[in-house]
Amino acid sequence: MAEWTFPVFGHGGDYNPDQWLHIPGTLEEDIRLMKLSHVNLVSVGIFSWAALEPEEGKYDFDWLEHVLDTLHENGISALLATPSGARPVWMAQKYPEVLRVNANRVRNLQGGRHNHCYTTPVYREFVRRMNVALAEKFGHHPAVVGWHISNEYLGECHCECCQEAFRSFLKEKYLTLKALNEAYWTGFWAKKYTDWNQIVSPSPRGETGIHGLNLDWKRFVTRQTVDFMRQEIQPIRRLCPDKPVTTNFHGGHMLEDLDYFKFQDVLDISSFDAYPAWGSGDDDKTALETSFNYDCTRSILRKPWLLMESTPSMTNWQEVCKLKRPGMHLLSSMQAVAHGADSVQYFQWRKSRGSSEKFHGAVVDHAGHEHTRVFRDVTQVGEYLEKLKPLVGSRVPAQAAVIYDWNNRWAVKDAQGPRRDKQYEATVLEHYAALRRAGVDVDVIDEEQSLEPYKIVATPMMYLVKPGVAEKLEKFVSGGGVLLMTYWSGIVDENDLCFLGGFPGPLKKLAGIWSEEIDSLYPDEHNSICMGEGNELEIEGEYECGFLLDLIHPETARVQAVYGSDFYKGMPALTVNDFGKGKAWYLTARPEERFLQALYARLVRQAGLNPLLDSVPAGVQVTSRVKEGQLYRFIMNFGDNAAQVKVPASQDAISGEQVLGEIELSPKQIRILKQM
Ligand code: GLA
Ligand code: ZN
Repeated sequence: MAEWTFPVFGHGGDYNPDQWLHIPGTLEEDIRLMKLSHVNLVSVGIFSWAALEPEEGKYDFDWLEHVLDTLHENGISALLATPSGARPVWMAQKYPEVLRVNANRVRNLQGGRHNHCYTTPVYREFVRRMNVALAEKFGHHPAVVGWHISNEYLGECHCECCQEAFRSFLKEKYLTLKALNEAYWTGFWAKKYTDWNQIVSPSPRGETGIHGLNLDWKRFVTRQTVDFMRQEIQPIRRLCPDKPVTTNFHGGHMLEDLDYFKFQDVLDISSFDAYPAWGSGDDDKTALETSFNYDCTRSILRKPWLLMESTPSMTNWQEVCKLKRPGMHLLSSMQAVAHGADSVQYFQWRKSRGSSEKFHGAVVDHAGHEHTRVFRDVTQVGEYLEKLKPLVGSRVPAQAAVIYDWNNRWAVKDAQGPRRDKQYEATVLEHYAALRRAGVDVDVIDEEQSLEPYKIVATPMMYLVKPGVAEKLEKFVSGGGVLLMTYWSGIVDENDLCFLGGFPGPLKKLAGIWSEEIDSLYPDEHNSICMGEGNELEIEGEYECGFLLDLIHPETARVQAVYGSDFYKGMPALTVNDFGKGKAWYLTARPEERFLQALYARLVRQAGLNPLLDSVPAGVQVTSRVKEGQLYRFIMNFGDNAAQVKVPASQDAISGEQVLGEIELSPKQIRILKQM
């Protein structure tokens, strides 16, 4: 493994000079403009395979060498990409097996990108040769500070080669067909396998109802993608072991379908591409989802990460491609830094003249000069990043975590009942938002991460509980931690088989309750959470709840609130169980936002955490970064109204001004304050 040692915040983005090789003078002009906008780091070669290997076995690296030399001469560094995100046309024509086969077992035609089989030895060999050649030629080039492996890995392939690999994966896991049949509960609907070769990937034309199989297929797709990446980086590790590698993660509604935590072992630094739809209604909500993605990206390695792509203005694939309003570019760029990013990178540097991204926001527009609003906004971000230099490499010291687990996400979605749309992502986001609103930094981790750094952990809807997780949570709570669990938890094991003996399965002892049934309500139906008199949180009154509602019996837990209506009126809605030195809370239904905010404000204090601000008004978000004991607060107003916050004695990291007490943030304003 190699460390990311870039001494300043990275500022730049995807640079695709190979699109402009036929227009002389472009590179020189790019360099002039990069310097003007304080750009110091660009990613080159991401989709350059056709330019790097125009014919099979004939490499043309001269243009890239000239680009890297020129960048270096001008003090600009590069992340060198491997071009595997899109294969050249000649390759697909001669070796059609490099193309993907979809779930209906139809092979794709040449086209698009990310359209390759990640298993076939043919593609892997082409990639290996290319990466060896790139690493030999440029591994020690002084401009190259790290590797950008492929681009936004995603998708799956159902070709014969992948089916074979899938079966090997299953054999490795289950050893015998008997064990597999038991795990897949194939006694149901006559699905028993009698030969390994009968097992194929799920398909809309075939099997979709074996939940264990669906889950294993998703795990396999991640494993195979990680394996592909491992093979990609192997020559890089061998030939230039000191250069760190990353791959750009991405994902709209709370991240892509690959289990990003499984990339831990192949990454030196994690990175993320962000395209939030700013101005699409509620920027505070958009910002929360974006923060969540950033916190998850950071939590994978629990260290600083890179914002690898973002748009300087509009994103051309969105439903409505809205321009960033004044102030939004600075605020959205600093938001990544606030959550631990050590760079702000864009897609892309120079707007393409043709093809599908010719209207995507870019630093240099078709006008071709620096006299644009977007260019000025980008320059301002560059200036900010330079002023923030002392913060490079600083940590986000989160002592709170929300568990968001891909296996659980896949399994929850696949379950038929207790309602069709379980809203796992939205539910986790609600808990995350309430924790953030309580004014603390939050990590977003999977079930397998260690809980050592945390004092409070939330496990919303932990339907699937992997082996060892209940024991880990027990240890966390008995050591003094505060845990919040919810309804629809502890239902199935890692193979999606229901726990027998009462829910929440292995979490029963910790929660101190037994869940007998779960109710589901229509969107316009509600129940209420009535806080019990003298409850330990000192929350008063009644709060709306609904969606999914557990009917539980306390065993060792104490009831803190009860349902207000229906045939289960008076049954527990919130309980707490003392467990060793800590407390395990169990919330039985999905409550209104106001309740979650009140709950987490109390739990954070119960866990002994100090909020970063006394109170965080609606629309405002706060994070911190710490380096050598020095704390910096990032206070961001995503709202449409001015907001007042009270801050301790601080110095503005940009203006140097001293601040103390109440300050006002105008809409879309950010303040970065160094604690005095
Ligand atoms: C992704 C890709 C880029 C580009 C942008 C456009 O993040 O990685 O190559 O297509 O989207 O938003
Ligand atoms: Zn395949």
